[in-house]
Amino acid sequence: MIVLGIETSCDETSAAILIDGEVKSNIISSQLVHHKYGGVVPELASRAHQRLIVPVVDEAINSAGITKEQIDGVAVTYGPGLAGALLVGLNFAKAFAYKMKVPFVGVNHIEAHLYSNFLGKEKPQYPFICLIVSGGHTQLVYVKKPFEYDFLGETLDDAAGEAYDKVAKMLGLGFPGGPQIDKLAQTGNPKFVKFPRSFLDEDSFNFSFSGLKTSVLYWLKDRGYYPITDSGNKIEGQKLSDVCASFQAAVADVLVGKTIKAVEKYKVDYVTVSGGVSANSELRKKLYKNAEEKAIKVFFPELDYCTDNGAMIALVGWLLLKEGITSDYNLNAVANLPITGNIIFRL
Ligand code: KG4
Ligand code: ZN
Repeated sequence: MIVLGIETSCDETSAAILIDGEVKSNIISSQLVHHKYGGVVPELASRAHQRLIVPVVDEAINSAGITKEQIDGVAVTYGPGLAGALLVGLNFAKAFAYKMKVPFVGVNHIEAHLYSNFLGKEKPQYPFICLIVSGGHTQLVYVKKPFEYDFLGETLDDAAGEAYDKVAKMLGLGFPGGPQIDKLAQTGNPKFVKFPRSFLDEDSFNFSFSGLKTSVLYWLKDRGYYPITDSGNKIEGQKLSDVCASFQAAVADVLVGKTIKAVEKYKVDYVTVSGGVSANSELRKKLYKNAEEKAIKVFFPELDYCTDNGAMIALVGWLLLKEGITSDYNLNAVANLPITGNIIFRL
């Protein structure tokens, strides 16, 4: 079965072709227009998706070496995400499916992140614990079997990626902040500042990152590095790397600590991480180290499947279409779509 997957929930316009669950192409166009605003501007995202959707889908089809007539079904993100951005992909998918007389199916973006670890050659085995860490979500999920989940906890305020982006902005770095902080942290001292590790010692699987973010803010303010003015007061050099490493260590300690607690409580042998922050080097290093000590197998997606991508949407779409699950043409974009274990209520 050849599935076209489309993703436009935020600032990545992406399309992919999967043949029987195997990725043949995965084209991702990241919208650079948002960088100067320090965050995603919803209206600009929708306009950029409109401009990019046709060329991106064309490129996905061409580089997979197929023709559009060979596509058996279309999978598209219908939530959660920015309503206007979601609508571009959803309406394109509907029009494409209608014209080509093939079924289409709406996919939950978070569920797709969760399955992104199944795009690699080696697959995790059920049951497993999944940590979803992106710009909009930080959740721990116990995945019992395909499409059956127990929600263990989530962030009560900022998502991990959001904290990265906001701290990067305070430090005068560009958007998105995660990759830049990660890079600077490589040469920094993680013990330079002891930032708080919120909720780490509590039994709950909830997270909180706003306290950490505020601690960084006060640390910078107290030393005159914030707010950034034209006088050149921006933190730079080794100190900047040290603050980045200290912040990154605090985030990774909490994410890894909670994930290992969940693994122990639910006695699973497999743990997966997905979402944009799963690209983080410190998170990878720490989780591998901790898991190795406990003989737990860890899965991180390949870098192209960490951030938003069409391949993960096509994969979930393929799993659903194979079961004969399709969506109706009146399916709407749902900005705050939750993840739910019940297939009937998903679509
Ligand atoms: O999953 P994603 O592409 O989009 C959402 O659904 O949110 O995640 C984007 C987030 C951004 O906040 C970005 O700063 C973060 O992932 N990110 C990282 C890294 N690469 C991307 N955070 C920490 N370290 C990284 N290497
Ligand atoms: Zn995402």
